[in-house]
Formats: sequence, C-alpha cells, structure tokens
Amino acid sequence: MTNQINFTIDGQEIVAQEGQNILDAALANDIYIPHLCHHPDLKPVGACRLCGVEIDGGHMTMSCLEPVREGIDVRTDSPVIYQARKIAIELLIADHHMDCLACAAAHDCDLLTVSAYMGVQPERLERLRKTERDLPIDTSNPFFQFDPNKCVICGICVRTCDEIVGLGALGFIDRGVSTVVGTFGNKPFVESVCESCGECVVRCPVGALAPKKPEFAAREVQTTCVYCGVGCGIYLGISGDEVVSVRADRERPTNEGSLCVKGRYGFNFINHPDRLTKPLIKKNGEFEEAEWDEALELIASKFAESKGEKFAALASAKCTLEENYLIQKFTRAVMGTNSVDHCARL
Ligand code: FES
Repeated sequence: MTNQINFTIDGQEIVAQEGQNILDAALANDIYIPHLCHHPDLKPVGACRLCGVEIDGGHMTMSCLEPVREGIDVRTDSPVIYQARKIAIELLIADHHMDCLACAAAHDCDLLTVSAYMGVQPERLERLRKTERDLPIDTSNPFFQFDPNKCVICGICVRTCDEIVGLGALGFIDRGVSTVVGTFGNKPFVESVCESCGECVVRCPVGALAPKKPEFAAREVQTTCVYCGVGCGIYLGISGDEVVSVRADRERPTNEGSLCVKGRYGFNFINHPDRLTKPLIKKNGEFEEAEWDEALELIASKFAESKGEKFAALASAKCTLEENYLIQKFTRAVMGTNSVDHCARL
C-alpha cells in the first residue's frame, strides 16, 4: 500500500498517492493543466512542454514528470507559465493542418482543448508557419489512416506500440522540423510489422491516426468480445439497430482498455447480409434452409447413432467456461467417452 501525500494545487488541498505525478493528481481532482504528450497508460516523457507548473513560487517544472511531494504548493498558472505554454502550443500547431470540421477527432481533440484554453490566435500562428507542408496520407491500412500533416510529434503512438503492444512498429523519422512519425523504413503501414490493433489510433490526441470510417454511436452496450477465450471487455456502439463501433472497457481486468485487431475492428459480421440466420441441412449435396426443430432433431439422432468411442468432441476457446464445462460433461456422461479436447491445446 502506497503512502498518501498531502499538498496544494492553486490553494486547493489535494490528497495523492506516493509516486503519482502532479499532472495525474491534478486531473484526478478536476484541475485542468494543459497537456498533449501525457497519457495515463504510458510513462511520461515531458515532450510537449505544455504542462509546466511552479512549485513553492520557484522554478517551473513539467507536472507530468514531477512526483507529488508532501506539503508543496503548486501553481498551475502565472505570467511566466502562460508565456512558456503559449510559445510551446503555437509552435506545436503551427504546422498542423486545421481542417477541424472534416477531422475524425474534431469532437475529441486535445489540441483544440489546449488551444481553446490558451486562447491561441490564428494570426499569431501565421508568422510561425513554414512552407505549407503537404505530406502524403497513408491509407494503406484497411482500418485506419495516418495523416502526418496533423501529427504534433507527441510520441504517444510510438510509446503505445513500444510499451503496451510491445511491437515497436512506429518510430520517429528524420530530425528537427522535418521529424515525422513513421514505420521502420518509412513503409506504408500495411507493409510494416504493424498488427492493426489500433491501440495507437485510440490514443492519438489530434486525429493524425484516425479510423477510416469514424462512426458515432447513439448508445453503447457493455459486453464481452466473442473472438477468443480471453474475454476482453468491450462497449458496442449502436446506431439505429446496427453495431457501428467498438470501444475497449478500461475497467475489465482481462484487457484494461486494450484490444486486438479482431476485437476492435472485426465487428462487421454482426450486421453482414451473408450472415446465417437459419440452420442449413445438406440434402442431395446442397445446403438447404431448415427450421431449428428439424436441425436439432437431426443432430440429436446423429448423436444417438454415435455413442461410445465413435464420438469425440473438440471444445472451443470462443465458448465460455461454463459452456466448455458442459461439453466435457455431455461427452463423458451422455456420449460415454473420454474423447474430449479443447482447441486451445492445439
Ligand atoms: Fe507534460 Fe507534455 S504533458 S510535457
């Protein structure tokens, strides 16, 4: 158990946990400090230089890197802090393509949030804007696209792929003002080692990495991913009577907000017109639609003919624990054989 640390932010008494940084402690207490490169799932790096605060009236420090300490007095705003942040945010967005109305992140863009908080004026940006860059958008991935013209080099995608996915598919390419995020060898995403899990996409704060078909759900339903036996928690986004999106459940201990490519993007089968809605029985070499009673009776009669060592069952990782228990019980108690196994052992 960690120790509690008592200190103040802008005069407000704060109780934080030892080891927590000032930024996380402030956000947990609904105190906003501008930030772009910080994400609670990742180690802080202090790259964007936006989250500066003053401690005990003295030096300015990056609150994402500074651990809480007993009795300190943190100030989140002062003329010095404002000026430092203003230069940082103006430089960061000077090269950002501002097509906000058409951007997938427009409803949830950290850059817009910081910009509005700081009162950034477009006319001040013009003096910083270098030759209008127009880098090609990588649309090679079937699920998401990468627009380097919107990237603010916060590095969240690079660190996500390193620290959470453990793949290292992304890195920084070139140096100085030409630095961009890219794959190894600057190949299109689809030719890289990227596994399309979308962990970087959901953490991108500015819409540089964005789903190809952003869909906005009218409501969400909490459920469990059907793809494998891990049982990741998800929220299905519903619009009308269709599933249009999947969001990972951060509270589910099995996945803690992460998903693989199938869980995050493989939901089109749910509403696909080719999906079987009635059982098929092969008659004269051709599948024919049948009623459920007819199909179940056929299965039961085949089971009755196949008792004993003629029968074997292979259980599935897609089934629940209870379903897998039932199939082994059914195999032993009803079919009279111990020939039961599970696909997870293959
Ligand atoms: Fe602290 Fe970016 S959030 S430097």
